[in-house]
Amino acid sequence: MSFDHHRVAGLALPHTHGDDRLRRVLAATLQTQSQRAMNGTLPAIYWDAAFFNLHQVQVFQAASHSAQLAILKLANQSLLEEAYWIEKAGVGYMAKMVLLAETLEERMLYGLFTADETTHLSQLCPFVSVPDRAAESQPFLRLLAEVVEGDDKTVLLFVIQVVLEGWGLSHYRRLAKSCDDRTLAHLFTSFLQAEARHHSTGNLLFHQRSVSAASQSAIQEVLANFLGMVQVGPQSVLAAIEQVMGHLSRSQKIQILTELDAEAHSGKRLQLLRALMQGESAGAIGQWLEAQGAFTPFPPRLCVSPRFA
Ligand SMILES: [Fe+2]
Ligand SMILES: [Fe+2]
Repeated sequence: MSFDHHRVAGLALPHTHGDDRLRRVLAATLQTQSQRAMNGTLPAIYWDAAFFNLHQVQVFQAASHSAQLAILKLANQSLLEEAYWIEKAGVGYMAKMVLLAETLEERMLYGLFTADETTHLSQLCPFVSVPDRAAESQPFLRLLAEVVEGDDKTVLLFVIQVVLEGWGLSHYRRLAKSCDDRTLAHLFTSFLQAEARHHSTGNLLFHQRSVSAASQSAIQEVLANFLGMVQVGPQSVLAAIEQVMGHLSRSQKIQILTELDAEAHSGKRLQLLRALMQGESAGAIGQWLEAQGAFTPFPPRLCVSPRFA
């Protein structure tokens, strides 16, 4: 399946090739030519081994200095790429919400939010170099692209703005706090205020709506899927190790996830997500998911079941 028919997320939208005129107009409009863009230095290491708990992993400790650097670069890039894709999808999502607005204030807000996500996207661009189609292999991005394509506004508000932007807020705060590079740390800090507004607008609008049974079960289905991806721990860190060190056996993967403290790491993220589902209808959704065990992290041996091997 390709992203070509996922027009709202626009993850497959290519950058302009050849003709620089449009890019110059865009740069002038954004008025944000970051230093990093002019230096063109990438990829670098912005978050250290301790940020990923890699310092506790034996295979990592025993690896050569250059292998350690390679693993760290991959882990760093996957964090930045994930932010890039989310902001890219965010532009399309906010533009869609302009059209779905039911009041003038709402329309104006979403117009401004579209510009926020555009600014974030442009500021992240210098830090990532990803092929336009690289998102297709990532389950989370496929899920995100599918959700924003939907037309149930209650589902959109809750999944994207209440849950994902609420989660994104703490994620960006953590990225900013632990970032070794001041430029990038400032960049993530500068996103926080806008993301907080996106999240609180989502909360406001969601709580004004009455949630139909169909919307509620659609939300539950999507979130059960999403939480499943959190339950299996930091798979991208595992993938970075495997890419550099070569094939890892099932028992090696289990050992690495144990050393990464994967279960506690996922547990924290799941509790954070649980806390976002408060209030009458949101609480009911949270309770349903809780009853499914969706907020319980998987132990390492279940994170490397054949499904994720
Ligand atoms: Fe954003
Ligand atoms: Fe946002």
